[in-house]
Amino acid sequence: MPTDPTVLLLGATGRTGGRVLRQLLDRGVRVRAIVRSRAKLPAGVVESPGLTVVEASLLSLSDDELERHVRECDAVVSCLGHVLDLRGIFGPPRDLVTQAVRRVCRAIHATAPAAPTKLVLMSSVSVNRPKRLDARRGTIERALLRALRGVVPPPADNQRAADFLVAHVGPDDPDVQWVVIRPDSLLEGEVSEYVVHEGIVNSLFSPGSSNMANVAHFMCELVTKPETWREWRSKMPVVVNA
Ligand SMILES: NC(=O)c1ccc[n+]([C@@H]2O[C@H](COP(=O)([O-])OP(=O)(O)OC[C@H]3O[C@@H](n4cnc5c(N)ncnc54)[C@H](OP(=O)(O)O)[C@@H]3O)[C@@H](O)[C@H]2O)c1
Repeated sequence: MPTDPTVLLLGATGRTGGRVLRQLLDRGVRVRAIVRSRAKLPAGVVESPGLTVVEASLLSLSDDELERHVRECDAVVSCLGHVLDLRGIFGPPRDLVTQAVRRVCRAIHATAPAAPTKLVLMSSVSVNRPKRLDARRGTIERALLRALRGVVPPPADNQRAADFLVAHVGPDDPDVQWVVIRPDSLLEGEVSEYVVHEGIVNSLFSPGSSNMANVAHFMCELVTKPETWREWRSKMPVVVNA
């Protein structure tokens, strides 16, 4: 990766996305942010010379427009999430994250980048790794999560988006490499000590916590440090406060 990467950021107006935006700009990374409303970006960043804002509803962009935005980006970071009100949770688009991931991957493939584009997806500890790799997640917990996904769209959307990357993009795609980050309960707070685990470390009945600033920090490490990327590529790390 060149010393000054360019990152396409989705969800920059969100709680975690705003922190990712600030931290990337602080590191000298150029950011292209697709947001529904620039007025919702964190205070003081809009005039930043490293930031290009595209004001648009992501899923309304045409394939050509999306291709134009991913072209020449070294990485795409998605902090998209359903707005936590009745309409955001149960209304369309119920598959916001899955659609965004599928479309971004398609756009990256269409641009045939010279080097693989990194895709970092913010997900959740409610999302399972394939083949029951999260050995600490017991039968009751799995059954509860399955039931939850049947009733509430966002957890199902997060699982489908991760499954798409695991099953359809996989580890050997020449154009797209990915990491799915699974934070526990999100907290406010500054960057602090945190630990990155390969699998689940807490149960749903006794959850851990993840400062959004720490999640953002790990995302920034991934897109700016090749050794961090090599370590976590094609994995679904769990990020929790130390
Ligand atoms: N809450 C938790 O404890 C927790 C724990 C672990 C993981 N997570 C996961 O982490 C992710 C991010 O969480 P967060 O709390 O940082 O998110 P958030 O503050 O709710 O931000 C969500 C972002 O997605 C955008 N968005 C929502 N609907 C959209 C649409 N239809 N089209 C385009 N953009 C849309 C929002 O844009 P606008 O500003 O325009 O609405 C915003 O930028 C979610 O996937 C969530 O499931 C949450």
